[in-house]
Amino acid sequence: MEDDFEEIKWNLKKYGQEHLLNGYNNLSETKQKQLLDQLRHIDYQLLNSLYNNIKKENTTSNDKITPIEYFDKEKLYDDYDVYKAIGEKAIRNRKLAAVTMAGGQGTRLGHNGPKGTFDIGLESHKSLFELLSDSLKEQGKKYGVIIPWFIMTSRENNDQTIEFFAKHRFFGYEKDKNIFFFKQGELPMLDTEGKILIGEDGLVKEAADGHGGIYEALVKNGMTKKMRELGVEWIFIGGVDNCLVKMVDPVLMGIAISKHVTAAGKSVVKANPQEKVGVFCKKNGKPSVVEYTEIPKEMAEMTDEKGQLVYGESHILCNLFNIDAVERMGNKPLPYHTAFKKATYIDKNGNKVVPDGPNAYKFEAFLFDAFGELDDMAILRVKREEEFAPVKNATGTDSPETARELYRKFYKLK
Ligand code: UD1
Repeated sequence: MEDDFEEIKWNLKKYGQEHLLNGYNNLSETKQKQLLDQLRHIDYQLLNSLYNNIKKENTTSNDKITPIEYFDKEKLYDDYDVYKAIGEKAIRNRKLAAVTMAGGQGTRLGHNGPKGTFDIGLESHKSLFELLSDSLKEQGKKYGVIIPWFIMTSRENNDQTIEFFAKHRFFGYEKDKNIFFFKQGELPMLDTEGKILIGEDGLVKEAADGHGGIYEALVKNGMTKKMRELGVEWIFIGGVDNCLVKMVDPVLMGIAISKHVTAAGKSVVKANPQEKVGVFCKKNGKPSVVEYTEIPKEMAEMTDEKGQLVYGESHILCNLFNIDAVERMGNKPLPYHTAFKKATYIDKNGNKVVPDGPNAYKFEAFLFDAFGELDDMAILRVKREEEFAPVKNATGTDSPETARELYRKFYKLK
C-alpha cells in the first residue's frame, strides 16, 4: 500500500496533478481508498493530449464531406415487402437485441432523476422507460419473441435506474434473463489550466464519457458476450429521450441484411437548417454524422435544385448494427469532443468553488464517430410523426408538450 501510494504520488507529479492529494488526509478511510483507486486508473497521458488538443479543435479539417444516399421508406414500393419479410424472419429467429442509452439525468427537463424515469405528462403518467418498454413488448409479441433489452446507465444514475425498474417489476422483463443493465465509462473534468478537478465529495470529479463509449461498454461489461449466448446478431441502439422510438423495425433490418451492410440508421427530414440534430453524410467516402454543434452555417443551409436541404437527413439516434461491427468498434478508441461546462469543485486550498459560468472541460465521445469504421451504412428515411418525438427541453421545441402531442397523435389517444 505504502509503495503504491508513493508510486501514485510520483505519477501525479510527473503529470503536474499533485494537487489531487491535497485533501487526502481529511478524507475518511473509505474515501481515501476510493480516491487512490481513481488515481490509479486515470489515463493521464490521454488527458494531457485531450487538453493540448482543445486549442487545435477548431482548426479547419481537410475531410471531404459529401451527401449520403438513402432509402425512403415511403418509396420502397415492391421492395418494401421483400425487406420486411427478411427482417421479420430474423426477428422471429431471435436475432435482434435492443439497447437504450440512458446515461443522462433529466436536469435539462428540471427532473431530478434519470431521464428515463421522466413522466412526459400523459394521462397514464408513464415514464419514458415504460413507454419504451410498452412498444418493445408489443413488437416482440407480434413476432412471438421477447426482445432482450439492454440499458446503458452511468455511475450517476445506475442505482436509481435499477431501483426504478425493480419498483415497476422491470415492466414484465426478468433481470439478467432478458433485461440487462450496464454502466458507461467516465473521464475526469479539467480546469482551464489542464488540472484535474476534485469534486465536493473529495474525489476526482468525473463526467460520463459520452455515448460513444457504448461500444466499449457493451464489450467490456460482457454484454455482447451475453447477446451471443442468446443468439443475437443485430443490435438496435437508441436514445431514451425519444418516446416514439421504434426499436424493432423489420424493414430496416431487411435492408441491412439484403444489402450486406454492417449497420443501418434511420433519418427524418431536417425540419429547418437550425434544428438541433446531427445530419448523416459521408466523410472521406465513409458514413458519418456532422453534429449540430459543429456544422458550418453554409453547409446547414445548402439546398439542391429542388430547394431541399442537401444535408437534410437528420440523425435521430436510431441505429442498427451487426454484432461483429459493435465488437470491432468496441476495441478501437474514438476521438473525444470537448464541452465547456459549469462545475462546482474544491480548490487546492480545500475551499468549495461554485462558478457563475462554465469553468471546466468535459470530454465526450459520440457514437457516430465510429461509423467511419464501417464499410457502409444503409440510411432509411422514415416519417418524423411516426418515429421521432424527442424530449430534450423543459419548454418549447422538443419538450414534454411537443412529445406528448406527437405520442397521442400516433397512438390515437385523447
Ligand atoms: C443527439 C445526437 C444528435 C441527434 C439528436 C436526436 C449526440 C452527440 N447527438 O443530440 O446527433 O440528432 O440526439 O435527438 O448524441 N446519453 C448517454 N450518455 C451520455 C450522453 C448521452 O446515455 O454520456 C444518451 C442520453 O440519455 C440520450 C441520448 O444519449 O438518450 C442523446 O443524448 P443528448 O446529449 O441528449 O444528445 P443531443 O444533444 O440531444
